[in-house]
Amino acid sequence: MSTVYLNGRFIPLEQATVSVLDRGFNFADGVYEIIPVFLGKLFRLPEHLKRLDNSLSGISLSLDYDGRKWRSVLDELLNLNRVSGDSTVYIQVTRGAAERNHFYQSGYTPTVFAMCKPLSGLDVSMGISAILHEDIRWEYCNIKSVALLPNVLLKQYARDKDGSHEAILSRDGYVTEGASSNVFIVLDNTVRTPPKSNRLLPGITRDLVVELIGKSGGPCLEVPVAEKELLQADEIWITSSTLGIAPVVRLDGRPVGDGKPGPVWRDTNDRYQAFKTNN
Ligand code: PDD
Repeated sequence: MSTVYLNGRFIPLEQATVSVLDRGFNFADGVYEIIPVFLGKLFRLPEHLKRLDNSLSGISLSLDYDGRKWRSVLDELLNLNRVSGDSTVYIQVTRGAAERNHFYQSGYTPTVFAMCKPLSGLDVSMGISAILHEDIRWEYCNIKSVALLPNVLLKQYARDKDGSHEAILSRDGYVTEGASSNVFIVLDNTVRTPPKSNRLLPGITRDLVVELIGKSGGPCLEVPVAEKELLQADEIWITSSTLGIAPVVRLDGRPVGDGKPGPVWRDTNDRYQAFKTNN
C-alpha cells in the first residue's frame, strides 16, 4: 500500500509531505472519511462522499471535487496499490497551508490526501469489551473532524483500564456513541440506537444496520438511550466501517446479558455479511 494521493498526484508514501504551516497540523482544521473496500470494491461510496461533503460544509471549506472526480481518484489509488481484498481508504482534507492565524480567509489551497490500508479484520465473533465514560468531546460530533484527541484519549483509557476495545460515551445521562463507533442496544426485544444529532457521527454502518433491520420486519427504534437502559440491555453492539457490527459482551467488567454474543446480533450480522457480499 505504498502509493498515496496528495494534491492531484499519485506518489510513494515516503515522498508525501505537507507544510508545517498546514492548518490541519496547526489547528486540526480539517475533516476526514474512512471508506471500507470489500473484495476490491468501495462500499457505500455515495453515502461516504455525502458525509464528506457535509463535514466540509460543516467547517465552511469548499472543495472542487465532485463524486465523479473522487471515484476516479479512488479507483486509481486502489488500482495502483493492487487492492483486490478487504481494505480501507482514508481521505483527509484540510484548509491548507497559511501563515498561522486563528482567523482563516478564502483563497487557500486545500490539502487533499488519500491512502489505503489493508483492513485489519479484528475477529469480533466472540464479542469485545467496553467501558462507559462521560462524553468529553465538543458539540459538533456530526462533523468527521480530524481533531480526534478526545477520542484517542478515551480509547487509550479504555484499553489501559481493563483491556477494553471501546469507550461507550454518555452525555447528560444518555448514550451518544462510541469513541470510534455507533452504539445499538437490544432491550425488551427491540433494537434501539440514539437518533442522529450534533452529538454523534451519522455512521454509514449505523444507517445500513437500521435499514437492514427495517427490511427484515423487526423494528429498530432511533430513540434516546438512557445510561440505565444500556446497563440493563440484553445485548449491546457497536458499529463502524472497520469493525462491522461487534457485540459488546462485557461493560465495565460486567457481563452484558449472558456474557456471549446474542441471537439478535447473530441474525443482524448475518444480514449485514450477506449484504456486503452482494453489494
Ligand atoms: N470511525 N462514530 C465515530 C466517532 C467514529 O469515529 C466512527 C467511525 C463511527 C462509525 O461510522 P462508520 O460506520 O461510518 O464507520 C461513529 C472510523 C472507522 C475511524 O475514525 O477510524
